[in-house]
Amino acid sequence: MKLMVIGGGGREHAVIRKLKEDPAVTEIYALPGNGGIARDAVCVDIGAKDIPGMVAFARERAIDFAVVTPDDPLVLGAVDALEAAGIPCFGPDKKAAIIEGSKVFSKRLMEKYGIPTAAYQVFTDPVAALDYVKDAPLPTVIKADGLALGKGVVIAQTRQEAEDAVRSIMEDKKFGDSGNQIVIEEFLTGPEVSVLSFTDGNTVVPMVSSMDHKRARDNDQGLNTGGMGTIAPNPYYTPEIAERCMEEIFKPTIAAMQAEGRPFKGCLYFGLMLTPQGPKVIEYNSRFGDPETQVVLPLMESSLLAAMLACRNGTLAETDIRFSDGAACCVVMASDGYPSAYEKGYEITMDDDVTAKVYVAGAKLDGDRLLTNGGRVLGVTMTAPTLKQAIGAAYKQVEKIHFQNAYYRHDIGSRALQALEG
Ligand code: AMP
Ligand code: GLY
Repeated sequence: MKLMVIGGGGREHAVIRKLKEDPAVTEIYALPGNGGIARDAVCVDIGAKDIPGMVAFARERAIDFAVVTPDDPLVLGAVDALEAAGIPCFGPDKKAAIIEGSKVFSKRLMEKYGIPTAAYQVFTDPVAALDYVKDAPLPTVIKADGLALGKGVVIAQTRQEAEDAVRSIMEDKKFGDSGNQIVIEEFLTGPEVSVLSFTDGNTVVPMVSSMDHKRARDNDQGLNTGGMGTIAPNPYYTPEIAERCMEEIFKPTIAAMQAEGRPFKGCLYFGLMLTPQGPKVIEYNSRFGDPETQVVLPLMESSLLAAMLACRNGTLAETDIRFSDGAACCVVMASDGYPSAYEKGYEITMDDDVTAKVYVAGAKLDGDRLLTNGGRVLGVTMTAPTLKQAIGAAYKQVEKIHFQNAYYRHDIGSRALQALEG
């Protein structure tokens, strides 16, 4: 089978590496891919938002199956356009991707179908929003309605911060039209868990749980980032909690989307918080998480291609999906300064005995040399029978990978280990 994978980050590299294991796969094209992905797939210079470009390419190369992973093309309707051109796809159509594309939509869905989430209000008028934050409980959580490169959530500790957030999102349009509406919601507390799931619109099969580390610096200090590392499984996600999430959140969400005439096919990501009142949804993503994918897929024992085809074809209930009962840790190596200003263009070298799965997020090729080309540069993943071993092994591997200005967190997984070891 000839596959096409849309996107060019560490997540797409992990997806491509896993797809390549399937003997049915003969060729993989990455649009646009990156310098590291180029070692595993043919990179094609078509951007992830260039929908006419991807449709034309898929037709010309007679692509058998397309995998659309990033949020932007999904929300813009890439799957609709490809399917209309006769190219079967993994990923939700535009109608279903709105579950990530509009926070107002997802909050109203949860309210209508009784799915546990933070209490909220929607504002379309900045004056009303500013008035509301004058005496809202603090901290308060302010979210732009639409996609905002993962930066559309502000946890305001003070009234001034809340007011500034409302003004920058709604008046200054920091995220463009994504800020035409905002959600202001209750601040929740508790451990966070990411659960990626396969769904064909009827059946939902959760993958192994994981934990992201979003802050730039050790001990959860510094700015929010796209994710500085992940571990799987998440020790807070016990079998009892998993069962509760299945009954109270996962199945009701799939049923709700179906009832709304928006059946969701693809990977639905549940961002959960385990609050003292039980698990609640923080956010839905209509796609694989980054860097969650970099720990989840290395633990997947069955075929990713088969799971993706089953999501598309509505046969998930009959499909074998298995994960190892081991653990994985991914340490992100970034350019120092990320998520603010950073330098790039430095050569990446690796010792000969690197055994990690090194997923490339931001690098480009210069002849044979791989040069840093982004904030997050690499995700270094190791799997092992236990979480402690996986974390230790990942950090040993990180020491064997070099580039100028490399920066990484030293405490990926330490909170998870504390939870396990008590
Ligand atoms: P996002 O950018 O949507 O991934 O959200 C960023 C982070 O904001 C989440 O991972 C949570 O840590 C935090 N967050 C979002 N909503 C809430 C909430 N209602 N209460 C507490 N923290 C939240
Ligand atoms: N790691 C969080 C996300 O992919 O949105």
